[in-house]
Amino acid sequence: TLTIRDVNVNNKRVIVRVDFNVPVNGDGQITDDGRIRASVPTIEYLVERGAKVILMSHLGRPEGHYDPSMSLSITAERLAVIMRHPVRFVGASVGPEVEQAVDAMVGGDITVLENLRFHPEEEANDPQFVAQLASVGDIFVDDAFGTAHRNHASIVGIAEYLPAYAGLLLEKEIISLGHILEKPDRPFCVLFGGAKISDKVKLLENVLDKVDTILVGGGMAATFLKANNYEVGKSIVDENLEAAAKIMAKAKSHNIRLLLPRDVIVTGDLTPDARGVCVPIENIPPLGKIVDIGLLTISVFTKELERCRTVFWNGPMGIYEMPQFSEGTKAMAEVIGRLHATTIIGGGSTAEIVAELKMAEKMSFVSTGGGSSMLFLSGEALPGVEVLQKKKTICDPGRK
Ligand code: 3PG
Repeated sequence: TLTIRDVNVNNKRVIVRVDFNVPVNGDGQITDDGRIRASVPTIEYLVERGAKVILMSHLGRPEGHYDPSMSLSITAERLAVIMRHPVRFVGASVGPEVEQAVDAMVGGDITVLENLRFHPEEEANDPQFVAQLASVGDIFVDDAFGTAHRNHASIVGIAEYLPAYAGLLLEKEIISLGHILEKPDRPFCVLFGGAKISDKVKLLENVLDKVDTILVGGGMAATFLKANNYEVGKSIVDENLEAAAKIMAKAKSHNIRLLLPRDVIVTGDLTPDARGVCVPIENIPPLGKIVDIGLLTISVFTKELERCRTVFWNGPMGIYEMPQFSEGTKAMAEVIGRLHATTIIGGGSTAEIVAELKMAEKMSFVSTGGGSSMLFLSGEALPGVEVLQKKKTICDPGRK
């Protein structure tokens, strides 16, 4: 795959697809700007070499309609602060307003366009929309690893249309996550939490011959415990009990240690002042809900993690949003942060948690991809990456 290092960008109009789909709170404030920061090396590289940098992204799921609460203007403002560089925002993704703004750009300028998903044509990968997007660029750069699993106009269509290159973040993600698939230093441990099992089944199958230990916490632990015939009270159990049973059987046949919690925090209700009690897994009360891993489990998981040389973590250990049920997740973040091992954090909510705990710097790599990193590690082709790999010839960058 060609990267931005393979092309002269001086004075060229470079369209960069970034993933500025950052979490925004009810007051319209960005709560984690990790994805914006992660794009800076590519943007800086292009600016320093005199490119006219046109950034495009989606934010949220506006379903093809204009929605001011999902405007990308806040990301443009944040980028300007991070880079200490003026950033112009244009309130359109295509059309005359964009054309005029791009015509006025000189080398080293940065412009952010409006949310692509205000147009239904983006998700439909509509050829006319692709042509409109591409009309203001000479070169396309894909740096949106977080959206690489989507077959959208700004990811796949435009990469087929213009000379296309990978940005530095996309490259780094593939190398860092690829490390797990290629030759992870062993022992290699995977720590899973969160609610959904389905997206983890394929991943585990794909790494079965490389992983030594699987630790399971979070909501999904209830499903595993249930599949092992424990009573889990009112905990939410994935319908797909078979998936958990399948993972356990596969782990066994590959001699992988699969550890479930030995004790859990349970509560009767989830009101803001709810309190939890720590119980052994044999004693989960009929009306109890599992909301965190227990103290014994924290210490068992800690010991396992401490012997490992590669760790991949995805998913919180409990209901992290409720401070009283966030202890297990915090403990795991702290342990992983101090390991002398390659530590890789799957994106999405786990990346947000690590950022909030100010632990991101302590990890070897925090992926910006949620769904895309899970799919990549499952061995699935990502359309956004595939299209760049297929591009064998460099088209004429002068094409308008
Ligand atoms: C993500 O946050 O996973 C990406 O930005 C993709 O967003 P989507 O799931 O709405 O396509």
